[in-house]
Amino acid sequence: MSGNITFTMIKPEAVEKKETGAILKRIIEGGFKIKALKMTRLTKEQAGEFYGVHKGKPFYESLITYMSNGPILAAILEKNNAVADFRKLLGKTDPNEADECTLRKEFAESKSKNAVHGSDSDENANIEANFFFSKRERF
Ligand code: CMP
Repeated sequence: MSGNITFTMIKPEAVEKKETGAILKRIIEGGFKIKALKMTRLTKEQAGEFYGVHKGKPFYESLITYMSNGPILAAILEKNNAVADFRKLLGKTDPNEADECTLRKEFAESKSKNAVHGSDSDENANIEANFFFSKRERF
């Protein structure tokens, strides 16, 4: 059975462009409930750990440099079928391939600077949520 939470991050370039409000509005209107929310900044080491699954890939070093380059907005979202439904709202990694009305079509600059992250499985949603939030910070 699919779980009911997913994890998202609004990435540094979208925060810098003051798009957090517009993106959160789309998420809430998409039926997701915000269970935890935090503006924070990753160190390069933390970004490396978060994206550890991509270690060794050609884009890994630039990804962790970019993700530690400025503040991000991290959130836990709740909805039935949260992971799959959020990935639908998010759109494909490359905004040029993303469907109309998706967050990446609207807000992403490129495949690497793609504005918003979303977990790819229930297992990773829990790992990623726990990476950013303690039990006390969730309701
Ligand atoms: P995200 O959904 O946060 O998960 C991994 C991230 O790595 C992805 O978004 C992109 O920011 C980045 N990424 C994935 N594939 C590529 C690629 N081929 N080239 C550059 N960046 C990528």
